[in-house]
Amino acid sequence: MDKQINIQETLDWYIVAGVDEVVGDTPGLAAEKTLPVTPLNKISVKQVNVSTVSISATLKNAKEACQKANSLDELRELMIHFDGCNLKNTAASTVFGDGNPKTKVMLIGEAPGADEDRIGKPFVGRCGHLLDKMLAAIGLSRNECYITNVLPWRPPGNRTPTDEEIAVCLPFLKRQIELIGPDILLLLGGIALKSVLDCNDSISRTRGKWLQYSLSQNKELQVLATYHPSYLLRSSNQKAKVWTDFLRLKKKLSEINQ
Ligand code: URA
Repeated sequence: MDKQINIQETLDWYIVAGVDEVVGDTPGLAAEKTLPVTPLNKISVKQVNVSTVSISATLKNAKEACQKANSLDELRELMIHFDGCNLKNTAASTVFGDGNPKTKVMLIGEAPGADEDRIGKPFVGRCGHLLDKMLAAIGLSRNECYITNVLPWRPPGNRTPTDEEIAVCLPFLKRQIELIGPDILLLLGGIALKSVLDCNDSISRTRGKWLQYSLSQNKELQVLATYHPSYLLRSSNQKAKVWTDFLRLKKKLSEINQ
């Protein structure tokens, strides 16, 4: 009885691991009799989380390594070889930033979704198409901006990333910001807001206000937070607020360009 495969538990396990798409008619990852299946309710938190001690060591290593990266290519290589975040084990790609590295505007989202994980670029799925349209509405193409995420690896099943996962990935994001050196950061959603500005205020209270982020080279960046495009796909009545935020961004850009 113990050895019998419980199909529901196996499917649940796959979904948690991020395997939530069918890509062919023949099963390539179907449960086999010999596959050890640990029911979800038997996986302890200790098994899936790195311990606090190793997190601080990992964090220290990540910070030191990132400071040594002198270009985006070097940083991308470091990220690809970094093994301190458990999300990498279930992701298909390391999704690094994309776009114009000489841009004035850097957009920061949360984490890759299924499409981004498959293609290896940020914001290329439904959310990305909406983002492209919102940028186009203020006369910006995505090639004029640089787009990245707080996390380069897709959380299984698109779950919310944990504080530990965010903390170990943050040095890579901060170094990306330093290497790009934009004038403006546009934070898409609450996770980007909380991670970049260490701000625990809700996105609904913080969006639309100009804030600041200090770069280590004594440069203050202008920061605007707004709702994440995936939230707009679910709550289209919030689009007007994001439109006003994008108009604020357009105005600030034209002031900077004067
Ligand atoms: N959502 C994000 O936050 N980032 C992506 O790249 C895609 C969807």
